[in-house]
Amino acid sequence: MKRIGILTGGGDAPGLNAVIRAAVKTAIYEYDCEVFGIRNGYDGFVETNGIVPLSIDSVRGLLPRGGTILGAANRGNPYARKIVRDDKETLIDVSDEIIKGIERLEMDALLILGGDGTLHIAHELYKKGAPIIGVPKTIDNDISGTELAFGFDTAVGIATEALDRLHTTAESHHRVMVLELMGRDAGFIALHAGVAGGADVILIPELPFKFENILAEVRRRVEAGYLFSIVAVSEGAKPRGGKQVFSRSGDDIYVPRLGGIGQQVGGYIEKQGFESRVTVLGHLQRGGSPSSFDRWLATRFGAAAVRLAAQRKFDHMVALRAGQIVDVPLAEVTATAKRVDVNDDAIITARGMGVSFGDD
Ligand code: F6P
Repeated sequence: MKRIGILTGGGDAPGLNAVIRAAVKTAIYEYDCEVFGIRNGYDGFVETNGIVPLSIDSVRGLLPRGGTILGAANRGNPYARKIVRDDKETLIDVSDEIIKGIERLEMDALLILGGDGTLHIAHELYKKGAPIIGVPKTIDNDISGTELAFGFDTAVGIATEALDRLHTTAESHHRVMVLELMGRDAGFIALHAGVAGGADVILIPELPFKFENILAEVRRRVEAGYLFSIVAVSEGAKPRGGKQVFSRSGDDIYVPRLGGIGQQVGGYIEKQGFESRVTVLGHLQRGGSPSSFDRWLATRFGAAAVRLAAQRKFDHMVALRAGQIVDVPLAEVTATAKRVDVNDDAIITARGMGVSFGDD
């Protein structure tokens, strides 16, 4: 193995830089291999100065740094790249440029750090001949084949701290505090932070809720003498028989943007006579320094991805299973999206402790 590339696709997540650092150090120290960084996701292959050499010096001090030093482009799909032609926006397929770029630079492997969208594209590029290794990145934790992706632990920590902080105002003012959390179609952030932060109601996409059930829980608490409630709502949660709430519709380039369910839930509760406030935590969940666990996981993933590249085990993704770093075929990873198992012990535990999911 003489030369590898690293690319960070999709939105940023805490730990991306820690993966880059581990991969660069392992490639150079263990394999005496050159490393190139592709800037702005797949776009770097078609942009001027889109590919930069990475040295030990380039990755110094990266462990605590959030974001990605390579830049991100979360709608950078090489199969549908937006360009302006004859004053009109149009989509073109530049996937061949990526294959040519890999060949031109004589890359023996390309490590792709990304979420479900980026990994789908990686799998397609492999079919065209690209020597791809995947690394699972997402705060949503919705990637199949791995128990955890890096970024999730940091996001849950931030969300839990937010719930702790909301508790004090809720209790002092006898209010219902609603916190809308990220996660797209998976409720992992709301579930984990909700349990860790002692939420009274947790709403997740996997368990459609009824507004009346949320109200019943708030009322039950007031009648029992608890004059406040904390509601953790996943942005993808929806009422039974209803639809998810979007703050922006999608188009050829952009997926629809979820957002607004927290306001609907808070508005409903307030209309029923219980003072409510809504907080949308948003990108605070994605920014800033990774937790020590995410740095640890990202480091292990980065090093393992380089070892996988050396074995030429392409079209595989590094993964965490039962505490061990393993690898799984990208075909398996991309076949199904991971969602909260509504029958697992986390839900049973929360229900057993009186948490309402608004579903019964
Ligand atoms: O997938 C990560 C994530 O933060 C989701 O939780 C959220 O729905 C989405 O990305 C937000 O994307 P953007 O940064 O493009 O608004």
